[in-house]
Amino acid sequence: MAKSGELRVLHVASEVVPFVKTGGLADVAGALPKALCQQRGIEARVCLPGYRHALRVAENLGLRWLPGHLVIEAGGVDHHIGVGEVVHDGLCTYLLACDELFGRDGCYGPTPSSDYEDNARRFSVFAKAALALPRFLQWIPHIIHAHDWQAGLVPALLERGWCHDLPATRSVFTIHNIAYQGTFWHWDMKLTGLPWAMFNPLQVEHFSKLNFLKAGIVAAQRVTTVSRRYAEEIQTEDYGWGLEGVIAGHAHKLSGITNGIDADIWDPAHDPHLPAHFDAQDLSGKAVCKAELQRELGLPIEAKTALVGVVSRLVEQKGIDLVLAGVDPYILAGRMQLVVLGAGDPAIEAALRRLQGRHPTRVCFWHGYNEGLAHRIEAGCDLFLMPSRFEPCGLNQMYSLRYGTLPLVRYTGGLADTVTDVCSGEGNGFTFGPADLGHFSAVLDRALGLYQHFPEDWRRAQLRAMKEDHSWQVVARSYAALYRSLTWV
Ligand code: ADP
Ligand code: GLC
Repeated sequence: MAKSGELRVLHVASEVVPFVKTGGLADVAGALPKALCQQRGIEARVCLPGYRHALRVAENLGLRWLPGHLVIEAGGVDHHIGVGEVVHDGLCTYLLACDELFGRDGCYGPTPSSDYEDNARRFSVFAKAALALPRFLQWIPHIIHAHDWQAGLVPALLERGWCHDLPATRSVFTIHNIAYQGTFWHWDMKLTGLPWAMFNPLQVEHFSKLNFLKAGIVAAQRVTTVSRRYAEEIQTEDYGWGLEGVIAGHAHKLSGITNGIDADIWDPAHDPHLPAHFDAQDLSGKAVCKAELQRELGLPIEAKTALVGVVSRLVEQKGIDLVLAGVDPYILAGRMQLVVLGAGDPAIEAALRRLQGRHPTRVCFWHGYNEGLAHRIEAGCDLFLMPSRFEPCGLNQMYSLRYGTLPLVRYTGGLADTVTDVCSGEGNGFTFGPADLGHFSAVLDRALGLYQHFPEDWRRAQLRAMKEDHSWQVVARSYAALYRSLTWV
């Protein structure tokens, strides 16, 4: 039952921590609603598809099935959706379960680099089910906040009045990565529940294709993206992935709100994944974390050699090619050890294996997904690399800051919003501009030089980094203000 006077917000996202995660969207969709609930006068809830893996996690966290089900039509076929509810860490989450659509091992495809053929149907049904949920729950939100292309139809269907019980509900749409747009052939319009009249370049059509991301951008009352700088970048040809004109046309309702981090999960003083703990007052535990990480990875335990880390989806976006092309001289000179944790593009994975083959005692490539190791890399490394070609926000650089691991980043998107070069005298990391080998090598050389020869300066930068507050508690206030600007509550 809703409390009166409370602003109700339903988040709609295709992945949510702790139920399922392929990237940073899941971190955000888990942490932002939780932080909103801690704001005065806001009740936030979240819904996601009931993938097989997500349901298993939810069952262990006390999932209960609500009586009845939703019936959602798409292209003449009825899908029966079970609604599972679980309250975890104070956040009420709904899993929308439909075996024929979501009862699979992957979220978006059988492998991280492929798609399911029926994604248009899967995410049309997801959007409609999310809109049917409030009536089913008898909980009518003031705001529906949809994330990324998988929820892009939500604002469009809401605007068209697809759902009669939400006449006063307003929509917010967040772009986490404009490179992923959810494009399908035009006949999939039949699945969406939108009229054919909307298949035009001002609404859901983009170069003859149906574009779910565009549908969300055009229809939502407010559009946000996940850093201030990315909000500017996506209005340009270099970063807009063909949607720059659409974004520019809707710039009046666009804002950038730089993501936060879940400061409970990413806390070096209490992190259960670490062999020792530390904080800005006492960094001795970090040295233990470094030695234990070197042991775990089979690297020589050398306190004085810079341990450099990467945790990433291995896709072109992340600029791993610069790491691959640039690190050999520094490894050969004994100036660094390297650990890379990640999975993705088979060509990048193969190149990382070759790098490890060239330097078996200096480089460790850990292939796959490993939550615990990601935390230990953040804690045990000295330097963390994110040479992304574009980065809407990026979370790992903020985890690194909190763990006293200086981030080395390309100056783009959220990386530019959160990392300042130490050469400014007050910085918390290292930045470079043009995405080429020369600039990457130069900044890596400079970072390793500071580590080796100026430990006191390094230490001061670490302390500055660790004292910053990037928590969601601060960021959630900006979202709360945005919601309130759309409602009277
Ligand atoms: P993106 O969403 O583009 O992948 P972000 O930096 O926003 O980039 O978020 C990535 C998230 O996924 C971080 O929480 C990071 O720690 C995590 N992550 C990425 N790859 C792995 C991996 N192989 N193992 C564990 N965590 C990973
Ligand atoms: C996307 C972006 C990443 C961002 C994340 C969460 O996956 O690639 O930069 O941090 O979404 O907003």
